[in-house]
Amino acid sequence: MKYRRLGRTGLSISELSFGSWITFHNQSGVQDAVEMMAAAYDAGVNFFDNAQVYAGGKSEEIMGAALGRLGWRRGSYLVSTKLYWGLNDGPNEKNTLNRKFLLEGIDGCLGRLGLEHVDLLYCHRPDPDTPIDETVWAMHNIIERGKALYWGTSEWEVEDIISAIEVAERHHLHRPVVEQPVYNLLERHRFTPEYRKMYRDYGYGATTWSPLASGLLTGKYQGGVPAGSRGSLEAYDWLQPQLTDSAALAKVAALEPLAAQIGASLAQFALAWCLQNPLVSSVITGASRIDQVHENMQAIAFKDRFTADLMREVDRTLGITSA
Ligand SMILES: NC(=O)c1ccc[n+]([C@@H]2O[C@H](COP(=O)([O-])OP(=O)(O)OC[C@H]3O[C@@H](n4cnc5c(N)ncnc54)[C@H](OP(=O)(O)O)[C@@H]3O)[C@@H](O)[C@H]2O)c1
Repeated sequence: MKYRRLGRTGLSISELSFGSWITFHNQSGVQDAVEMMAAAYDAGVNFFDNAQVYAGGKSEEIMGAALGRLGWRRGSYLVSTKLYWGLNDGPNEKNTLNRKFLLEGIDGCLGRLGLEHVDLLYCHRPDPDTPIDETVWAMHNIIERGKALYWGTSEWEVEDIISAIEVAERHHLHRPVVEQPVYNLLERHRFTPEYRKMYRDYGYGATTWSPLASGLLTGKYQGGVPAGSRGSLEAYDWLQPQLTDSAALAKVAALEPLAAQIGASLAQFALAWCLQNPLVSSVITGASRIDQVHENMQAIAFKDRFTADLMREVDRTLGITSA
């Protein structure tokens, strides 16, 4: 496993990391979490991603219990969580990045995770109703109180990220350092030239999510929705249309010979492709079973097989004219 700098910070982050969205609580309990996190850690993963809203807080509880059992040195791993959607319905308790929600929210997250601090705290979505300086000050205060070490954004527009950085710089506050955008072979809109320029000019890091498009890019949905897969979960039936979309399935099928050409499974091919982007600090993987973790961690073995010709062939196959 190689480690990359998180943007221009001094923090080293494993190029593959491991997250708990959907899987923890819905598909995996504490024992599964212990085994999957251990497999990832043994492969060199040092970053474990979570969010307050995942499984209504249960995902943080499971990761906290797993960390307790694993007993790793705190210095040897990074944990993140994210705030925005909230766990309750009242005003100031959901869909906000206001000061009250953030300062109270982080305490709940730390309690569930059983940690004194998270390494990264993300604003899970932008909040147009809270002035950006209020959010930046609140995140700064959370860091000053030792409850998070760095903060970032997730699925924010370029101008909002730059605006947050500028507010922080103007007031000498801790600035956001990392974005968490979707990124995979089929979904690249957070790496348009505008974003690429922003990452370069501001030294912003990127920890990317859904590298397998929720499993679509493994090829497992070619024959329909497999039992027990993410696409079969009732609570996430909104994902089904994208997992069974015929145009997307045709693209995935067309990638298969390219993966075979370098001896990779489709999953490994898709993950190794994400790692070709030097602006990506870490590719956050997800898994519902330990064999998936083992397979996915092996993706790093195929990283160097992506020649410029193969990258062009991938884009041609997907009908993308300019990268
Ligand atoms: N910031 C955000 O808004 C945001 C949004 C989404 C995710 N995230 C983060 O990013 C992480 C990764 O996202 P993701 O879970 O959507 O990643 P993903 O890699 O696109 O999908 C992971 C899912 O694909 C299936 N899978 C994984 N490896 C496989 C393999 N080798 N063979 C067959 N199936 C395989 C598993 O589902 P099944 O076995 O159930 O089919 C697994 O849970 C999340 O855990 C979370 O930490 C962040």
